[in-house]
Amino acid sequence: MKLAVVGKGGVGKTSISGTLARLLARRGHRVLAVDGDPNPTLALSLGVSPARMESMPALSSELVERTDEGYRLTRTLEELCASHSLQAPDGVTLLAMRPAQQAGTG
Ligand SMILES: Nc1ncnc2c1ncn2[C@@H]1O[C@H](COP(=O)(O)OP(=O)(O)OP(=O)(O)O)[C@@H](O)[C@H]1O
Ligand SMILES: [Mg+2]
Repeated sequence: MKLAVVGKGGVGKTSISGTLARLLARRGHRVLAVDGDPNPTLALSLGVSPARMESMPALSSELVERTDEGYRLTRTLEELCASHSLQAPDGVTLLAMRPAQQAGTG
């Protein structure tokens, strides 16, 4: 099951996403949490400290490429998780999204 939580600002998207992820993981489901917000705060909601997030490598633009059909990953999800995910409390796997450290071109 893939679940996307979207909506207007400040309505509780991150809070409910973190809670749902933790509850599902506690029930034994494999949960991969991905924060698509350019100012990611899902980690906090999942109980991961800012210091731990800081220690993760930032996602690089080389991980996606543009094709005729749109964008696609240049690595498998398993490869991406091996290098860019961490284990959060309750058994949730968090794909670490960090804001860009500096602006790029294009
Ligand atoms: N059910 C709730 N009752 C009361 N306050 C809540 C509830 N859910 C979230 N909040 C509070 O509302 C604020 C916004 O919540 P949250 O960050 O989850 O929203 P968001 O939709 O992800 O916001 P943003 O658009 O800024 O990413 C936070 O201060 C949060 O603690
Ligand atoms: Mg949010």
